[in-house]
Amino acid sequence: MSTSATFDPLEFRKALGTFATGVTIITTRADDGTPLGLTVNSFNSVSLDPPLVLWSLANSALSFDAFRKAGHWAVHVLAADQEELSARFARRGEDKFGGLDLEQGIGGVPLLKGCAARFQCRTASQYQGGDHLIFIGEVLAFDRDETAPLVFHGGRYAHATRRDPAGIKPRSAYLAGSFGEDFLGYLLGRSHFRFFAQIRPYLAEAGLSDEEFYVLASLTLKPQMSAEDLAIGMQGVLDEQSQAAVQALVDRGLARIVTPAPSTAGTAYELSDDGRNLALRLIAQAKSVESQVLERLGHADAVVIKSLLNRLLAVIDPQAAVLWGEPPR
Ligand SMILES: Cc1cc2nc3c(=O)[nH]c(=O)nc-3n(C[C@H](O)[C@H](O)[C@H](O)COP(=O)(O)O)c2cc1C
Repeated sequence: MSTSATFDPLEFRKALGTFATGVTIITTRADDGTPLGLTVNSFNSVSLDPPLVLWSLANSALSFDAFRKAGHWAVHVLAADQEELSARFARRGEDKFGGLDLEQGIGGVPLLKGCAARFQCRTASQYQGGDHLIFIGEVLAFDRDETAPLVFHGGRYAHATRRDPAGIKPRSAYLAGSFGEDFLGYLLGRSHFRFFAQIRPYLAEAGLSDEEFYVLASLTLKPQMSAEDLAIGMQGVLDEQSQAAVQALVDRGLARIVTPAPSTAGTAYELSDDGRNLALRLIAQAKSVESQVLERLGHADAVVIKSLLNRLLAVIDPQAAVLWGEPPR
């Protein structure tokens, strides 16, 4: 246990960082009309009646004087997809508003769009708190959106997600004794099969096997794809079947062999117009299945699960991220 006499400042910061918070951007307008703002996670609610909120501003901030004098400011609670905006407003000085689509709030305060919530405030009081100035604001107006919030924890951006309902228990006592229903392989495998089962009727209608669909969809990623690229891309997913699947697509006139391949040494493939149209139709149908599933899950958790699966994929299949290179423009 550290006592104040022996504080290591870095350790102190780390200990404070264990308190997970949302992320906000607070904006105001300086006397000369300049829009100002900074990223802040010291925001908190104070009182419901009257409606009061607080946050603290470092004495060293470039915007310090303007905020100290400001009669009005706005708190923007950031959404999960606003990490870049957060980083932009955490940079010192700079024109942070360039290129942003703004609204005009009470007292001429610049308002950002696409946030989880916004609180337009009037400065109610200020208190010096060590190397920060604490602002208490009376909320004059607010709005909010059903969107996942951005979270900050341990010095990093994070996601917020609902916890499993406490009552989740293995449905089968037998499984509880074996590898269990929370075995990652079971969860991923079952999710994949159930998800894909909803897409398969569209493939059947188009007369495509799963393998042919994977290859067809992969061929949309580049104008032309070498046999080698395709084999690498399908490695661990299709193995030897990719050759048979691409041949089946060629036989049906959905793809063709490009000879000689301009950018490659060996054989390359490209989609025919029919192939591209079919691929785009099937991808749209697969996406509509995705939206139905994600709608039931809720937007906030949809963002989280995708982020986690991307991280899992980066651990389990680091090649996947680099395989296909830049998408065609
Ligand atoms: C997640 C996060 C939270 C922050 N919270 C605060 C805060 O509560 N108060 C503060 O003064 N600075 C905070 N900062 C730092 C400011 O955003 C940063 O110093 C900014 O450059 C100040 O802008 P200015 O110097 O242009 O006024 C935070 C930064 C990040 C990334």
